[in-house]
Amino acid sequence: MRWFLRASLFASLLSFIAMSTTAQTAGIRPAWAFPVADKEQPKVEESSEPRKMPGSAKAYTPEQIDDLSNPPIWYPDEVGNPPSIVQKGTPPNALACGSCHLMSGQGHPESADIAGMPADYLIKQMANFKSGVRKDTARMNGIAKAVSDEDVKSASEWFASRKPKTWVKVQEVDILPKSYVSVKGRMRLVLPNGGTEAIGNRIVELPDDPMRATSRDPHSGFTAYVPKGSVAKGAALASSGIGKTISCEICHGAGLKGLGDVPRLAGLHPIYIVRQLSNFQTGVSAGTSSALMKRVVSNLTEDDMIALAAYAASLQP
Ligand code: HEC
Ligand code: HEC
Repeated sequence: MRWFLRASLFASLLSFIAMSTTAQTAGIRPAWAFPVADKEQPKVEESSEPRKMPGSAKAYTPEQIDDLSNPPIWYPDEVGNPPSIVQKGTPPNALACGSCHLMSGQGHPESADIAGMPADYLIKQMANFKSGVRKDTARMNGIAKAVSDEDVKSASEWFASRKPKTWVKVQEVDILPKSYVSVKGRMRLVLPNGGTEAIGNRIVELPDDPMRATSRDPHSGFTAYVPKGSVAKGAALASSGIGKTISCEICHGAGLKGLGDVPRLAGLHPIYIVRQLSNFQTGVSAGTSSALMKRVVSNLTEDDMIALAAYAASLQP
């Protein structure tokens, strides 16, 4: 039985490699997966008074919340005493990891969910950002260059020890509220009195409570609106590849929960997943360990990426 499984896996890998050598694309880069603050911003009144979050005894002013070298720890009981690199960073070049990825590690759609990822995987990605084979010039490249190997190790081990929970709810829709990308942390927010619009071919991730999310509260998650039919189509692609790619589960494990050093995809921010699939296809993420993914994505269309991301995000992490 085991022999049979291994032989059939080997055969599918061989036919996959033969298939992917024939197709070459320059790569798809869906603009909606790479948030940039909109030029036109609605006027939003903001009080400078301290804020409180449900279930937290802490209070922080907006200014303290946006201090990226000392971000809020809303629920100290849950995180204990994170390593200094996570809490404070090493200013001025490396901001605190916990400011963008949150103290929970689950982050925002425009950053990344790194909670419970294998420490070796996180260390490898920091090395890829540092050498520049993986590009995020506005943030992670500079941060990875500024952080010592020791701090990379302690941050990676810390985030690897976090337990991810369901953080994004996936909802299939035709119509949704109009939104814009805010200058505040490049987060997409509902446009006040903006009415509705068609989803089209994209994923829109919005915070369930914008005040709590922009306050870096790790208890207030996101809803990802996806086109109708995406989740079922993604499930079919992820399990068999339907002639376009190879089963994601072979490497990312059952339920896409991760396998060995291969990261989990279950429950990640779906716009992050599309961003990475695009980055592998266009060569923006091209570490030696990304060579496998370059093959995997070579025949995928934007719609395939949307479907795979919607499906993976809908799974329990
Ligand atoms: C200013 C915001 C910011 C800070 C501070 C920050 N990150 Fe990031 N991080 C990001 C963004 C944005 C991405 C997504 C990059 C992309 O889309 O490729 C990211 C991605 C990552 C990834 C890749 C995740 C994956 O699944 O492959 C790792 C690992 C990471 N960050 C670790 C860290 C560590 C460790 C620190 C602290 C030393 C840190 N980050 C600080 C914004 C930040
Ligand atoms: C042959 C093994 C293999 C297969 C099959 C595979 N992956 Fe991967 N995947 C990897 C490896 C290894 C990495 C880590 C790459 C790196 O280190 O840069 C990865 C990384 C990723 C990432 C980035 C995760 C992050 O946190 O940044 C995404 C997204 C992803 N894969 C999606 C998929 C999808 C969707 C499929 C199925 C269509 C798939 N993969 C199939 C091996 C595989």
